[in-house]
Amino acid sequence: MIINKNVLYSVFGNPINHSLSPLIHNFFSEYSGIHYDYNAKLIEIDSFEKCISIFFQNKYAKGANITAPFKNKAYFLSDHLTDRAFIAGSVNTFKKNKNNIIIGDNTDGVGILYDLKRLNYLEKKKISKILILGAGGAAKGIIPVLLQDGHNVFVYNRTIKKTKEIYKNLNMLGNLCILNNFDDKKLLFDCIINTTSCIFDPIFEYFPYNLFSINTVFYDICYNLNCDTSFLVWCKKRGALNCSDGLGMLISQAAYSFLLWFNCLIHIDDLINYVFKKILQKNYNF
Ligand code: ATR
Repeated sequence: MIINKNVLYSVFGNPINHSLSPLIHNFFSEYSGIHYDYNAKLIEIDSFEKCISIFFQNKYAKGANITAPFKNKAYFLSDHLTDRAFIAGSVNTFKKNKNNIIIGDNTDGVGILYDLKRLNYLEKKKISKILILGAGGAAKGIIPVLLQDGHNVFVYNRTIKKTKEIYKNLNMLGNLCILNNFDDKKLLFDCIINTTSCIFDPIFEYFPYNLFSINTVFYDICYNLNCDTSFLVWCKKRGALNCSDGLGMLISQAAYSFLLWFNCLIHIDDLINYVFKKILQKNYNF
């Protein structure tokens, strides 16, 4: 099933050189038989709007993924928003429709939920107490989905103004609490998720031990295939038994973007499982 060799998709971010998204979309293309070009583009911090506008002027450009630090800007650039992007206030996927309207979507939340359940980090029918570190574009995509799945969500961020804004916008969706510090000694989380963009900065050293137990699971939405992120280094030093990087979320959110773009009948689980198998093949050289 070849639909068009001339359709173009891209991921925009800064930095972007280690992005696995082009590889993942190559695998989706291979699995689905839908041929599309997908590449990664580095854009300067101040030229996001201009670059996106130039990109979509190309008649072959049909969609894009947006990564740090542009997800909030992408929200304001969208002509229309899906419900979940509207709720999140942040966009990681653009789709250009037939009338050249740019639709903004957010697949981060459904992506991480899929992966947390795949890993059994969120148990069926159990309400988890989840700590989110960070309050940027990625956190805004994730928090609504976790609240709607019934969990108790706590948010901590360096810049308190952003957590307050999240509380104001998302509080009505469920049990949401913001933390200005970790002074409350009774805090104990089932799941701690790092959504900050600090892949290697050692910012986690100051977290108190009373936040977690032996049963706590840890998830970093960042990933690095060559070595652990600083969050995972910290988790392992503290004896965490269950911790994961964000590769599964990356594949899952990409699969939901693919679904939006191509509206195809491939089962999302099959798509995700296919890429996992490919990426985890030992002889695959990154
Ligand atoms: P993304 O789209 O990946 O969420 P973002 O919107 O730029 O990217 O958000 C980055 C997040 O990482 C923010 O929560 C940011 O904290 P601030 O709101 O205080 O800026 C967090 N972050 C980045 N660098 C950090 C650092 N050195 N220490 C603590 N938090 C940091």
